[in-house]
Amino acid sequence: MNPHPHRPETLAIMASGVGSNLRAIIAACRNRQLSLHPTVVLSDQPDSPALTYARKERIPVIALPVRNYADRGAWEQALSEHLASFAPDLIALAGFMRVLSPLCVARFAGRMVNIHPSLLPLYPGLHPHRQALEAGASAHGATVHLVTETVDGGPRIAQILVPIRMGDDESSLIERTKSAEHRLYPEVLEWIARGHIVLTPDAIFQNGVKLTEPIIVDAMS
Ligand code: GRF
Repeated sequence: MNPHPHRPETLAIMASGVGSNLRAIIAACRNRQLSLHPTVVLSDQPDSPALTYARKERIPVIALPVRNYADRGAWEQALSEHLASFAPDLIALAGFMRVLSPLCVARFAGRMVNIHPSLLPLYPGLHPHRQALEAGASAHGATVHLVTETVDGGPRIAQILVPIRMGDDESSLIERTKSAEHRLYPEVLEWIARGHIVLTPDAIFQNGVKLTEPIIVDAMS
């Protein structure tokens, strides 16, 4: 039983891809930099390396390929029920490549966060690094935000800046941004675990004060 209603203890992670953010989060839990207990990992991709890693770490995994369900609605209903059965205090989307419906988002409102590899509101959606390079930007970064029904549009909790260097291409920028993400995501989750950051369905509070701008984490410090 959690004695602090605003202090989450259990964490669900949802991932579709290689799972490098998932690994950074779980590693931070294991070495006690992050005081959350990962209780389940869900994926829409049964062969995702994220699931392989979670199994190795002995974290329960649930694989829900969309093709196993009559339609997307049925898939999401199943996902939602599985997630709810673990009653996670917090849910971290870590490269989960499916857009959740407003109904599903509402069910977990104020408990679900996501990481996006851009300085939101710049470059939401797909290929944000490519978009930044095409725009001739000199800086890039990543954002951890609350999940709301607007894709990549929920209130921003924190951002980390990443320089764009001469000669960068999409893959070098993805790589540099990912290292920054691996630092940012566990750090922000720990702020939430400690109650320094409190989530509500549509707003973020930092030590009791509503956050209007994201906290900037210095990548160099
Ligand atoms: C990350 O860049 C994350 O910001 C985005 O999807 C990517 C997932 O990468 N939402 P990984 O699977 O964590 O390596």
